[in-house]
Formats: sequence, C-alpha cells, structure tokens
Amino acid sequence: MLQTLDRRSLLTGSMSLGALASTVALGGCEDFFNRIRHRPVRRNVATLDPNGSVIATFKNAVAAMKALPSSDNRNWTKQAQIHNNHCPHGNWFFVSWHRAYLFAFEQICRKLTGDASFALPYWHWQAQPSIPAPFWGTSTNPLFDSNRVATQSSVADSNFIGADALQGVLDNTNFELFASGSATQLRPPTKVYGALEGTPHNYIHGTFVQGDMGAFMSPLDAVFWSHHCMIDCMWVAWNIRCGNANTSDTTWTGFSFTDFFDENGAATTISTLACVLMPLLSYRYDDPLIGHGTCPSGASPISTTPPPPARGPWTMKKAEEIDRDTLRKFLEKGRPSKLDIVSRLPIGRGLTLTPGRPEASRAPLQPGQLAPVLAGRQRLLLNIAEVKQPPEKDAFLRAFVNLPEASAATPTTDPHYAGSFAFFGADHGDMPGMAAGAGGGVSFLVDVSETVRRLKAANQLGDDAAVAVTLVPVASPTAKGPPGAFSVGELSLAFNNVAQAQ
Ligand code: C2O
Repeated sequence: MLQTLDRRSLLTGSMSLGALASTVALGGCEDFFNRIRHRPVRRNVATLDPNGSVIATFKNAVAAMKALPSSDNRNWTKQAQIHNNHCPHGNWFFVSWHRAYLFAFEQICRKLTGDASFALPYWHWQAQPSIPAPFWGTSTNPLFDSNRVATQSSVADSNFIGADALQGVLDNTNFELFASGSATQLRPPTKVYGALEGTPHNYIHGTFVQGDMGAFMSPLDAVFWSHHCMIDCMWVAWNIRCGNANTSDTTWTGFSFTDFFDENGAATTISTLACVLMPLLSYRYDDPLIGHGTCPSGASPISTTPPPPARGPWTMKKAEEIDRDTLRKFLEKGRPSKLDIVSRLPIGRGLTLTPGRPEASRAPLQPGQLAPVLAGRQRLLLNIAEVKQPPEKDAFLRAFVNLPEASAATPTTDPHYAGSFAFFGADHGDMPGMAAGAGGGVSFLVDVSETVRRLKAANQLGDDAAVAVTLVPVASPTAKGPPGAFSVGELSLAFNNVAQAQ
C-alpha cells in the first residue's frame, strides 16, 4: 500500500519534503518508507513530561533561535516577521500557509537541536483550556512570554473551544465554511472568516491569550506554535479522518508559498500539494483518529465519542492501513467548494451594537422559504459583514436566531444560540503588503441551519413568517471595561443549495 505514493507527487513537493524526496531519488525506497512509517509524532502537550525530551528540545530550539544573529533567517524575531509580513487571514490560504509555516519551523528546530525526531507539541484547548505549564515560568524559560494578558489560571471560554464548539467547526462539510473564504492572493482587501478561524483560532489569539498573541507578531509567544498545531490537527481531523474534501479550485491547489526558510536559513518554496500530503509523509498526530469530533453531526460530546466510521472514500482502519493511494488522490484532487447561493435575504444595514444594547434585526420570509433548509437540501448561512470591533479588541460577538430579547446574560445553552465570533489582528484588513485603508472589513460566514432545525424540532421557531437575528456584544473576562461599540455594515442570510456533498 505504501508504494502507491508515487514519485511525481513526492518530487513536486520535494523542495519542502527534501530529505524524504532525495531518498527516493537515490533509490532508497525501503529506508524512505520506513521514514514515513516512523515519521515524527506531534503529541498533546498535556500528555508530555514537562521535564521530558520533547519539551526540552522545544526549549533548546527556541533558545537557539533567540541567540542567532538577526542576519540569520532562523532568528526568532525573523521567524515572527515572516508571519507579520505574509500570514493570510480571513481566507482559505489560512490553513495551508500556517501548515507550511509549522513545517518549516519544525525543520529548523530539528536542525538546531540535532534531534531529528522532534515534533512540535500541540495545545489541545478543549481538553486543557488554560495555557499549558511548559509555557510558564520566568524569563529563563524560552517558552514563556511576559506580555500575555491571560494568566496561568485563566480558563478559555468553552463557547469557543469546548466540545460543542469544536464539533460545530468540524460539522462544516464545505471547505470555505470550514477554512475561510476564497481568495486569489494571501492578503486581499476583504476577510471572510470560516468556522475554524473565526471561532477557536481568533478567540485564543485576540481574546484569550492577548499580548503578543493578539497581533501579527504573535509567533514571538512560543504558545503560538502549539496553538497552530491544534488548528492544524483540526484540519487533519476534518480532511483526513472525516473525509471532507479541500477545495479543488486551482487558485488554491496550484498555490506555492515562497515566504519560508529551510533548516539552513535558505529561502524555500512550499507547494499546496506538499502541504496537503504533509500529515501523511512528514509528521502525524499522536492519535491518528485525532480524538476530537464525530464526523457526521452527532449529539455526543467530542471527548467521549468513540470513533465513528469515516465517510471518506477509503475504509478507515488503523492509520498505517489506510488505502494510501485512494487517500492521496482524494487529498490532491479536492472538490468544488464554491457555495451555490440561491437567494439572499438582507436583514440589517449599518448596525451599531453597544454593550447592553444588542441589536435584533428581523426579515420577513416567503411562505415555505425555510422548508428546504429544514429538509436539509439547503443551508441557511448568516453573513455578518463589514464588522468593525471596538478599539480595545477585548470583546466578541454572539449570535442568536429568533430570540429578539437575547442579551449577554442569555445562556449559550439556549436553543436559539447560533455561535460566537472573535477577532484577531487589524479588523480593517490593513496589514503590511496591503495599501493602508484598502481593507474592506471583516465578515463571518456562519451556518445557522442546525439552529433553525433545532428550533423547529422544539417548536420554538415561531410562525415561519420571519427570521430574526440578534447580535450580542460580550466583554471578555479580561476586559478592562465594558465593550465599546461594534459596527456591522451588513447583516444578511443566504440560502445555499447543498450539492456535491460539500
Ligand atoms: Cu497567522 Cu494564528 O495566526
């Protein structure tokens, strides 16, 4: 089965998968497949001995990078500048660019420490909702960052990283709803956050950890790397475990990243093809079934659910028994991700949301307009567009459907609750490499079909004559004052035909 990873695809990704590919080129197939079989394992940091070898190597690597002169591209600050100057956010390059970034960084860690089996540990926020112990201490710990707002005892909000929240992220079968909106360049003027980025990712950065993590120099805080391994692990779970396809759009599949440096500090190019195969070739996560999430939408909590059958085109067995040929083709090919929007329903414009005064907007429905959504033939997508957050950036938004009186006091266990959305970095999209003021703002695209179906089943949907959306600004627990005003340029619902199993 392993022989089916053909030479072409390996060589296409050879710049980044250098060591493996050159082994093939030299004809060392047995050795090559052994390296794949025994590729380094990224482990849950909570399961590692804080005084053990993985954490020690991580610390040594970071210390070594901090000690390198700034002329060396592997220097710690230089590495963070790569992120500051190039990281894509609010679009579909988010997942692939950050995977490539972790890959290049991990190679540098291995080289600088001489530990070829090193793999970055991941921070499983759902299982451990506080910043893990190895990242604390004093300035003598290279993994510590004194600029954080979160303390060692701060606990992350389960509405963003709890079992239900992560299940909600994994339930998005469409690539753009999962991994953020389409784009043709890394930093286009408009950001459209999907579920993975808009909920756990942004929250951990901008609302929970804060400090360096709240802005684009965030990799200065070493917890960035373990946070992003968890994001990457979620993508592996979604894509490889659950068999949800990445987009087949050639703008995405044909993209190459030129922003990274290899283990010697030389510029390197990493293709998207290499990125999608990395979890099969260069590293894996400790639990091949990942341990978070049931694949189809299920009622059971993430952490206690036994692995269900995958719905991918292969038979899921133990990780090393997967039909790799089928899996590789599936990963390389993807599936169309463009959302087929059949109609749009504007529900509000130019909204200002001030604390204590949530904004409820209501739009009339045609008779029977919700029927295809209730029957599962359409999705109902809530588009919260052109959002500007208050300058303090220590607040987030919650959305409720058909509960006009919802407020910050409404529990998120209420069946009308549809989701929580957080911010990261500049909300106008102004970033290096983009003309100042060119930003078209930030949007969140959220599937509220499940909420509507749940309300219907509980007889709480109302008369079907209108749908109401209430956006509630909420101050984060670490906020110094009540949240300032949010503005939302446009609030609308879109009816999306569910086709091609997206
Ligand atoms: Cu580009 Cu979580 O950051």
